Amino acid sequence: MRVLTVLVMAMLLTAGTAGAQEPQVFGDLAEVMRGILFPNSNIIFDAQTNDPDAPVEAVEGDSTSERFANIYTGWEALENAAVALVEAANLIELPRNCELDENEPGRIGAPAPVERDDWKQYVAGLRAAGQTAYEWAQARVYDDFDVILMTGEVAEACSNCHGVYRDSYTDPPTPRCTPPAE
Ligand code: HEC
Repeated sequence: MRVLTVLVMAMLLTAGTAGAQEPQVFGDLAEVMRGILFPNSNIIFDAQTNDPDAPVEAVEGDSTSERFANIYTGWEALENAAVALVEAANLIELPRNCELDENEPGRIGAPAPVERDDWKQYVAGLRAAGQTAYEWAQARVYDDFDVILMTGEVAEACSNCHGVYRDSYTDPPTPRCTPPAE
């Protein structure tokens, strides 16, 4: 046991001193959206119908998700989802490709347009919305009007960017991840 601890410590220290290592991306943009932004924003949208103060129904069972279902619930779960959204803003600022799609020529894993000013502005919108959600959850006050404002800001932060880079509302529409014609 002691040896293991020392080994783990040594690994942690090496990782810490590696220094100038750049962040490394792994998923394409759609995967990051589905894996991180989608589930966490849904936790926040649920606050419209689920009062975080309501007693939590205990989940029983031996699987890992069942055993840990009863911690980080209510307001704390909302706080954590808000943190995930603010941090996700950093993830979608990193250069990475969009999803590969053979059915849509022109979108063969195109690089996400992370260098563009409008992209940065949409990312800033997501970061701000996540912070609003975080402050709302920290305040621990459930008010019908505030919850609509807060979830509205989050939904808008998503749709502002999707309108241009995912669903393309321009005429003619542009492929995903492609800037609109100038
Ligand atoms: C800065 C731009 C931007 C923001 C902000 C953004 N998205 Fe996205 N999202 C995209 C783009 C671009 C795609 C398409 C990615 C691809 O094709 O690889 C996408 C795709 C998705 C998908 C996958 C759809 C599919 O076809 O399977 C989901 C789900 C999603 N976004 C959810 C969200 C949610 C929820 C939020 C807000 C909390 C959000 N996104 C915020 C740009 C953004």
